Amino acid sequence: MKKNVLAIMVVAALLGVSTLVFAEGGHQYIGVKKCSMCHKSASKGNQYGQWLGTRHAKAYEALGSAAAKEAAAKSGVTGNPQEAPECLKCHVTGYGADASQLGKGYKKEDGVQCEACHGAGGDYWKMSTMKDKAAAVAGGLVIPSKEVCVKCHNEESPNFKGFNFDEYKAKIAHPRS
Ligand code: HEC
Ligand code: HEC
Ligand code: HEC
Ligand code: HEC
Repeated sequence: MKKNVLAIMVVAALLGVSTLVFAEGGHQYIGVKKCSMCHKSASKGNQYGQWLGTRHAKAYEALGSAAAKEAAAKSGVTGNPQEAPECLKCHVTGYGADASQLGKGYKKEDGVQCEACHGAGGDYWKMSTMKDKAAAVAGGLVIPSKEVCVKCHNEESPNFKGFNFDEYKAKIAHPRS
Protein backbone atom coordinates (compact mmCIF):
# COMPACT_ATOMS: atom_id res chain seq x y z
CA MET A 1 0.00 0.00 0.00
CA LYS A 2 1.25 3.45 -0.81
CA LYS A 3 2.58 5.41 2.15
CA ASN A 4 0.41 8.48 1.63
CA VAL A 5 -2.77 6.40 1.44
CA LEU A 6 -1.77 4.69 4.67
CA ALA A 7 -1.13 8.10 6.27
CA ILE A 8 -4.57 9.33 5.24
CA MET A 9 -6.19 6.21 6.69
CA VAL A 10 -4.28 6.59 9.97
CA VAL A 11 -5.30 10.25 10.24
CA ALA A 12 -8.90 9.32 9.39
CA ALA A 13 -8.87 6.61 12.04
CA LEU A 14 -7.49 9.04 14.62
CA LEU A 15 -10.18 11.57 13.79
CA GLY A 16 -12.79 8.87 13.94
CA VAL A 17 -14.01 9.61 10.44
CA SER A 18 -14.13 7.37 7.41
CA THR A 19 -13.02 9.53 4.52
CA LEU A 20 -12.37 6.52 2.30
CA VAL A 21 -15.60 4.66 2.87
CA PHE A 22 -16.52 4.20 -0.77
CA ALA A 23 -13.01 3.86 -2.18
CA GLU A 24 -10.79 2.03 0.22
CA GLY A 25 -7.16 1.07 0.18
CA GLY A 26 -5.82 2.82 -2.91
CA HIS A 27 -6.15 -0.27 -5.12
CA GLN A 28 -7.34 0.06 -8.73
CA TYR A 29 -10.88 -0.80 -9.78
CA ILE A 30 -10.55 -3.16 -12.75
CA GLY A 31 -14.21 -3.75 -13.62
CA VAL A 32 -16.58 -6.70 -13.54
CA LYS A 33 -15.52 -8.08 -16.97
CA LYS A 34 -12.17 -9.06 -15.51
CA CYS A 35 -13.72 -10.88 -12.56
CA SER A 36 -16.12 -12.62 -14.94
CA MET A 37 -13.21 -14.23 -16.83
CA CYS A 38 -12.73 -16.68 -13.97
CA HIS A 39 -16.08 -16.50 -12.20
CA LYS A 40 -18.65 -17.44 -14.82
CA SER A 41 -18.28 -21.17 -15.26
CA ALA A 42 -21.31 -23.14 -14.11
CA SER A 43 -19.16 -25.78 -12.42
CA LYS A 44 -17.71 -23.12 -10.12
CA GLY A 45 -20.99 -21.41 -9.30
CA ASN A 46 -21.18 -18.72 -12.03
CA GLN A 47 -20.99 -15.77 -9.65
CA TYR A 48 -21.03 -13.40 -12.62
CA GLY A 49 -24.32 -14.76 -13.95
CA GLN A 50 -25.86 -14.64 -10.49
CA TRP A 51 -24.82 -11.01 -10.02
CA LEU A 52 -26.16 -10.06 -13.48
CA GLY A 53 -29.60 -11.19 -12.32
CA THR A 54 -29.61 -8.92 -9.26
CA ARG A 55 -30.66 -5.30 -8.96
CA HIS A 56 -27.08 -4.41 -8.07
CA ALA A 57 -26.25 -4.88 -11.77
CA LYS A 58 -28.96 -2.36 -12.70
CA ALA A 59 -28.27 0.17 -9.95
CA TYR A 60 -26.88 2.83 -12.29
CA GLU A 61 -29.54 2.21 -14.92
CA ALA A 62 -32.20 2.62 -12.22
CA LEU A 63 -31.11 6.23 -11.71
CA GLY A 64 -32.49 6.94 -15.19
CA SER A 65 -36.01 5.81 -14.30
CA ALA A 66 -39.12 7.83 -13.51
CA ALA A 67 -38.98 6.46 -9.95
CA ALA A 68 -35.49 7.94 -9.66
CA LYS A 69 -36.69 11.38 -10.67
CA GLU A 70 -39.37 11.14 -7.99
CA ALA A 71 -36.86 10.02 -5.35
CA ALA A 72 -34.58 12.88 -6.35
CA ALA A 73 -37.36 15.45 -6.08
CA LYS A 74 -38.30 14.06 -2.67
CA SER A 75 -34.74 14.55 -1.43
CA GLY A 76 -34.33 17.98 -2.97
CA VAL A 77 -31.80 16.81 -5.56
CA THR A 78 -32.05 18.74 -8.80
CA GLY A 79 -30.78 17.72 -12.23
CA ASN A 80 -30.16 14.27 -13.68
CA PRO A 81 -29.90 11.59 -10.93
CA GLN A 82 -27.37 9.71 -13.12
CA GLU A 83 -25.03 12.66 -12.61
CA ALA A 84 -25.89 13.58 -9.01
CA PRO A 85 -23.24 12.73 -6.39
CA GLU A 86 -26.06 12.35 -3.81
CA CYS A 87 -27.35 9.35 -5.77
CA LEU A 88 -24.23 7.98 -7.45
CA LYS A 89 -22.46 7.34 -4.18
CA CYS A 90 -24.60 4.26 -3.54
CA HIS A 91 -25.60 3.36 -7.11
CA VAL A 92 -22.15 2.86 -8.65
CA THR A 93 -18.94 1.12 -7.54
CA GLY A 94 -16.09 3.06 -5.97
CA TYR A 95 -17.78 6.42 -5.92
CA GLY A 96 -15.33 9.11 -4.86
CA ALA A 97 -12.23 7.16 -5.89
CA ASP A 98 -9.43 9.19 -7.40
CA ALA A 99 -9.42 9.07 -11.22
CA SER A 100 -6.05 7.25 -11.03
CA GLN A 101 -7.82 4.38 -9.22
CA LEU A 102 -10.25 3.76 -12.08
CA GLY A 103 -8.70 1.22 -14.44
CA LYS A 104 -9.75 1.09 -18.09
CA GLY A 105 -12.13 -1.82 -17.40
CA TYR A 106 -14.05 0.21 -14.82
CA LYS A 107 -17.51 1.37 -15.91
CA LYS A 108 -19.96 3.22 -13.72
CA GLU A 109 -22.70 1.74 -15.91
CA ASP A 110 -22.02 -1.63 -14.23
CA GLY A 111 -23.61 -0.25 -11.08
CA VAL A 112 -22.87 -2.06 -7.83
CA GLN A 113 -20.47 -4.72 -9.12
CA CYS A 114 -18.16 -7.25 -7.43
CA GLU A 115 -15.61 -4.67 -6.34
CA ALA A 116 -18.22 -2.65 -4.39
CA CYS A 117 -18.38 -5.54 -1.93
CA HIS A 118 -15.11 -7.42 -2.47
CA GLY A 119 -12.80 -4.41 -2.77
CA ALA A 120 -10.97 -2.97 -5.78
CA GLY A 121 -9.34 -5.88 -7.61
CA GLY A 122 -6.18 -4.36 -9.11
CA ASP A 123 -3.86 -6.11 -6.69
CA TYR A 124 -5.61 -9.46 -6.12
CA TRP A 125 -7.12 -10.59 -9.46
CA LYS A 126 -4.15 -12.59 -10.75
CA MET A 127 -4.60 -16.38 -10.56
CA SER A 128 -1.54 -16.91 -8.35
CA THR A 129 -2.85 -14.35 -5.84
CA MET A 130 -6.49 -15.50 -5.97
CA LYS A 131 -5.48 -19.08 -5.18
CA ASP A 132 -3.80 -17.93 -1.98
CA LYS A 133 -6.54 -16.42 0.15
CA ALA A 134 -4.15 -14.70 2.58
CA ALA A 135 -2.31 -13.07 -0.32
CA ALA A 136 -5.60 -12.01 -1.93
CA VAL A 137 -6.79 -10.44 1.29
CA ALA A 138 -3.44 -8.67 1.67
CA GLY A 139 -4.00 -7.35 -1.88
CA GLY A 140 -7.36 -5.88 -0.95
CA LEU A 141 -9.87 -8.76 -1.29
CA VAL A 142 -12.75 -8.30 1.14
CA ILE A 143 -14.95 -11.15 2.40
CA PRO A 144 -17.96 -8.91 3.02
CA SER A 145 -19.73 -8.70 6.34
CA LYS A 146 -22.78 -6.64 7.24
CA GLU A 147 -20.63 -3.50 7.64
CA VAL A 148 -19.99 -3.46 3.89
CA CYS A 149 -23.70 -3.55 3.05
CA VAL A 150 -24.84 -0.88 5.45
CA LYS A 151 -22.59 1.71 3.84
CA CYS A 152 -25.38 1.83 1.24
CA HIS A 153 -28.32 0.05 2.86
CA ASN A 154 -29.16 2.76 5.36
CA GLU A 155 -31.60 5.59 5.99
CA GLU A 156 -29.74 8.01 3.78
CA SER A 157 -31.36 6.15 0.89
CA PRO A 158 -34.62 7.80 -0.22
CA ASN A 159 -36.04 4.32 -0.86
CA PHE A 160 -34.78 2.60 2.28
CA LYS A 161 -36.81 -0.53 3.04
CA GLY A 162 -34.91 -1.69 6.10
CA PHE A 163 -32.02 -4.13 6.09
CA ASN A 164 -31.77 -7.62 7.48
CA PHE A 165 -28.31 -8.99 6.70
CA ASP A 166 -29.16 -12.71 6.65
CA GLU A 167 -32.25 -12.20 4.51
CA TYR A 168 -30.55 -9.84 2.07
CA LYS A 169 -27.41 -11.95 1.86
CA ALA A 170 -29.52 -14.97 0.93
CA LYS A 171 -31.10 -12.97 -1.93
CA ILE A 172 -27.71 -12.29 -3.51
CA ALA A 173 -26.02 -15.60 -2.62
CA HIS A 174 -23.45 -16.82 -5.15
CA PRO A 175 -21.66 -19.82 -3.62
CA ARG A 176 -18.88 -21.62 -5.47
CA SER A 177 -20.99 -24.69 -6.16
C1 HEC B 1 -7.48 -15.23 -13.15
C2 HEC B 1 -8.70 -15.76 -12.59
C3 HEC B 1 -9.45 -14.94 -11.57
C4 HEC B 1 -9.86 -13.62 -11.67
C5 HEC B 1 -9.60 -12.66 -12.83
C6 HEC B 1 -10.59 -13.34 -10.47
N1 HEC B 1 -10.65 -14.44 -9.67
FE1 HEC B 1 -11.56 -14.57 -7.84
N2 HEC B 1 -10.88 -16.48 -7.63
C7 HEC B 1 -10.21 -17.20 -8.60
C8 HEC B 1 -10.00 -18.55 -8.11
C9 HEC B 1 -9.31 -19.67 -8.87
C10 HEC B 1 -10.56 -18.60 -6.81
C11 HEC B 1 -10.69 -19.80 -5.90
C12 HEC B 1 -9.52 -19.99 -5.03
C13 HEC B 1 -9.60 -21.39 -4.42
O1 HEC B 1 -10.69 -21.85 -4.10
O2 HEC B 1 -8.53 -21.99 -4.31
C14 HEC B 1 -11.11 -17.28 -6.55
C15 HEC B 1 -11.75 -16.94 -5.36
C16 HEC B 1 -12.42 -15.75 -5.16
C17 HEC B 1 -13.18 -15.42 -3.97
C18 HEC B 1 -13.37 -16.32 -2.75
C19 HEC B 1 -12.26 -16.12 -1.77
C20 HEC B 1 -12.35 -17.09 -0.62
O3 HEC B 1 -11.45 -17.89 -0.49
O4 HEC B 1 -13.34 -17.06 0.11
C21 HEC B 1 -13.70 -14.18 -4.16
C22 HEC B 1 -14.59 -13.41 -3.20
C23 HEC B 1 -13.26 -13.73 -5.47
N3 HEC B 1 -12.48 -14.71 -6.04
C24 HEC B 1 -13.61 -12.53 -6.03
C25 HEC B 1 -13.08 -12.02 -7.22
C26 HEC B 1 -13.34 -10.70 -7.71
C27 HEC B 1 -14.24 -9.68 -7.07
C28 HEC B 1 -12.64 -10.57 -8.89
C29 HEC B 1 -12.53 -9.34 -9.78
C30 HEC B 1 -12.06 -8.11 -9.12
C31 HEC B 1 -11.95 -11.82 -9.11
N4 HEC B 1 -12.24 -12.68 -8.08
C32 HEC B 1 -11.16 -12.10 -10.20
C33 HEC B 1 -9.80 -16.73 -9.82
C34 HEC B 1 -9.96 -15.45 -10.29
C1 HEC C 1 -27.18 5.64 1.15
C2 HEC C 1 -27.21 4.99 -0.15
C3 HEC C 1 -28.18 5.47 -1.19
C4 HEC C 1 -28.35 6.75 -1.66
C5 HEC C 1 -27.62 8.01 -1.20
C6 HEC C 1 -29.33 6.67 -2.71
N1 HEC C 1 -29.78 5.39 -2.86
FE1 HEC C 1 -31.22 4.74 -4.13
N2 HEC C 1 -31.19 2.90 -3.27
C7 HEC C 1 -30.28 2.51 -2.30
C8 HEC C 1 -30.60 1.15 -1.88
C9 HEC C 1 -29.83 0.35 -0.85
C10 HEC C 1 -31.75 0.76 -2.60
C11 HEC C 1 -32.53 -0.55 -2.46
C12 HEC C 1 -33.74 -0.30 -1.60
C13 HEC C 1 -33.84 -1.20 -0.44
O1 HEC C 1 -33.98 -2.40 -0.63
O2 HEC C 1 -33.72 -0.70 0.72
C14 HEC C 1 -32.08 1.88 -3.48
C15 HEC C 1 -33.14 1.88 -4.40
C16 HEC C 1 -33.38 2.89 -5.29
C17 HEC C 1 -34.39 2.83 -6.34
C18 HEC C 1 -35.32 1.66 -6.63
C19 HEC C 1 -36.53 1.88 -5.78
C20 HEC C 1 -37.50 0.74 -5.76
O3 HEC C 1 -38.31 0.73 -4.82
O4 HEC C 1 -37.46 -0.12 -6.62
C21 HEC C 1 -34.34 4.05 -6.99
C22 HEC C 1 -35.20 4.49 -8.17
C23 HEC C 1 -33.33 4.87 -6.33
N3 HEC C 1 -32.78 4.11 -5.31
C24 HEC C 1 -33.02 6.16 -6.67
C25 HEC C 1 -32.16 6.98 -5.95
C26 HEC C 1 -31.96 8.40 -6.22
C27 HEC C 1 -32.64 9.18 -7.32
C28 HEC C 1 -31.05 8.85 -5.32
C29 HEC C 1 -30.52 10.26 -5.15
C30 HEC C 1 -31.52 11.27 -4.89
C31 HEC C 1 -30.67 7.72 -4.48
N4 HEC C 1 -31.37 6.60 -4.89
C32 HEC C 1 -29.76 7.78 -3.43
C33 HEC C 1 -29.24 3.25 -1.79
C34 HEC C 1 -29.09 4.62 -1.95
C1 HEC D 1 -22.31 0.50 -3.11
C2 HEC D 1 -23.63 0.41 -2.48
C3 HEC D 1 -24.16 -0.95 -2.07
C4 HEC D 1 -23.55 -1.93 -1.32
C5 HEC D 1 -22.13 -1.92 -0.75
C6 HEC D 1 -24.51 -3.01 -1.18
N1 HEC D 1 -25.67 -2.69 -1.83
FE1 HEC D 1 -27.33 -3.86 -2.00
N2 HEC D 1 -28.22 -2.46 -3.18
C7 HEC D 1 -27.67 -1.22 -3.50
C8 HEC D 1 -28.58 -0.51 -4.36
C9 HEC D 1 -28.35 0.89 -4.94
C10 HEC D 1 -29.69 -1.34 -4.57
C11 HEC D 1 -30.92 -1.04 -5.41
C12 HEC D 1 -30.62 -1.14 -6.86
C13 HEC D 1 -31.85 -0.86 -7.71
O1 HEC D 1 -32.96 -1.22 -7.32
O2 HEC D 1 -31.64 -0.31 -8.79
C14 HEC D 1 -29.44 -2.55 -3.79
C15 HEC D 1 -30.32 -3.66 -3.73
C16 HEC D 1 -30.08 -4.80 -2.99
C17 HEC D 1 -30.99 -5.92 -2.91
C18 HEC D 1 -32.31 -6.04 -3.63
C19 HEC D 1 -33.40 -5.54 -2.71
C20 HEC D 1 -34.76 -5.88 -3.18
O3 HEC D 1 -35.71 -5.43 -2.52
O4 HEC D 1 -34.92 -6.56 -4.19
C21 HEC D 1 -30.42 -6.84 -2.05
C22 HEC D 1 -31.00 -8.17 -1.63
C23 HEC D 1 -29.15 -6.30 -1.59
N3 HEC D 1 -28.99 -5.06 -2.19
C24 HEC D 1 -28.28 -6.92 -0.72
C25 HEC D 1 -27.02 -6.43 -0.35
C26 HEC D 1 -26.11 -7.10 0.56
C27 HEC D 1 -26.38 -8.40 1.28
C28 HEC D 1 -24.98 -6.32 0.62
C29 HEC D 1 -23.70 -6.57 1.39
C30 HEC D 1 -23.10 -7.92 1.27
C31 HEC D 1 -25.20 -5.17 -0.25
N4 HEC D 1 -26.44 -5.28 -0.80
C32 HEC D 1 -24.27 -4.17 -0.46
C33 HEC D 1 -26.46 -0.72 -3.10
C34 HEC D 1 -25.51 -1.43 -2.38
C1 HEC E 1 -23.57 -6.89 -2.82
C2 HEC E 1 -22.29 -7.43 -2.43
C3 HEC E 1 -21.61 -8.43 -3.33
C4 HEC E 1 -21.41 -8.32 -4.68
C5 HEC E 1 -21.85 -7.20 -5.62
C6 HEC E 1 -20.66 -9.50 -5.06
N1 HEC E 1 -20.42 -10.28 -3.97
FE1 HEC E 1 -19.36 -12.02 -3.93
N2 HEC E 1 -19.88 -12.32 -1.98
C7 HEC E 1 -20.62 -11.44 -1.22
C8 HEC E 1 -20.90 -12.06 0.07
C9 HEC E 1 -21.71 -11.43 1.20
C10 HEC E 1 -20.28 -13.34 0.05
C11 HEC E 1 -20.27 -14.39 1.16
C12 HEC E 1 -19.16 -14.08 2.11
C13 HEC E 1 -19.09 -15.12 3.21
O1 HEC E 1 -18.56 -16.21 2.95
O2 HEC E 1 -19.57 -14.87 4.29
C14 HEC E 1 -19.64 -13.46 -1.26
C15 HEC E 1 -18.92 -14.57 -1.68
C16 HEC E 1 -18.26 -14.69 -2.90
C17 HEC E 1 -17.44 -15.80 -3.31
C18 HEC E 1 -17.13 -17.04 -2.47
C19 HEC E 1 -18.25 -18.01 -2.59
C20 HEC E 1 -18.04 -19.23 -1.70
O3 HEC E 1 -18.69 -20.26 -1.95
O4 HEC E 1 -17.24 -19.18 -0.77
C21 HEC E 1 -16.99 -15.54 -4.58
C22 HEC E 1 -16.11 -16.43 -5.44
C23 HEC E 1 -17.54 -14.26 -4.96
N3 HEC E 1 -18.30 -13.77 -3.91
C24 HEC E 1 -17.31 -13.64 -6.18
C25 HEC E 1 -18.01 -12.53 -6.62
C26 HEC E 1 -17.93 -12.01 -7.98
C27 HEC E 1 -17.04 -12.57 -9.07
C28 HEC E 1 -18.77 -10.94 -8.04
C29 HEC E 1 -19.15 -10.09 -9.24
C30 HEC E 1 -19.57 -10.78 -10.45
C31 HEC E 1 -19.37 -10.78 -6.71
N4 HEC E 1 -18.88 -11.77 -5.89
C32 HEC E 1 -20.25 -9.77 -6.35
C33 HEC E 1 -21.05 -10.18 -1.60
C34 HEC E 1 -21.01 -9.67 -2.89
